[in-house]
Amino acid sequence: MIRPLRAETERYGHYSLAGESVYDHPFQFGSKRTGPDLARVGGRYNDEWHRVHLMNPRDLVPESNMPRYFWLADNKVDGMEMTRHLEALRRVGVPYTDEDIAGAAKAVDGKTELQALIAYLQGLGTATKRGR
Ligand code: HEM
Repeated sequence: MIRPLRAETERYGHYSLAGESVYDHPFQFGSKRTGPDLARVGGRYNDEWHRVHLMNPRDLVPESNMPRYFWLADNKVDGMEMTRHLEALRRVGVPYTDEDIAGAAKAVDGKTELQALIAYLQGLGTATKRGR
């Protein structure tokens, strides 16, 4: 969240801090958003809520205009691709260890893109103590 208006910080939590994005490649800061701010969404809902919401937002929020992302449930995360991503990110400064890289393919083995996205969402806003 980059526009720290009082009403927004009350609704979504502390505004985003530069350190939270230090390892983002590419940087994803922007000035426009369509849905609610997700910078602090980690832990706000359980995984099952996210699963249902991503499959069809209107099952939970009838007036939602968010698109469905149901195909993510059919796509498997590619372990080799994940390993290469970690290697490339380390090259540009993300501090992945040899163990992280060696364990990447196993960590995502059998996981769907839906599960990976939910894990990502659950981590948003949890990297700093001031996150909430
Ligand atoms: C992969 C892409 C997306 C993800 C992971 C995502 C995720 C989420 C999450 C977690 C929420 C709940 C936020 C909260 O209650 O605090 C939400 C809500 C919402 N999103 Fe998205 N969203 C995505 C794409 C979009 C797009 C493309 C749009 C609009 C065109 C959109 C519009 C909305 C709206 C209007 C809401 C509020 C209503 C609702 O909860 O369904 N989202 N989204």
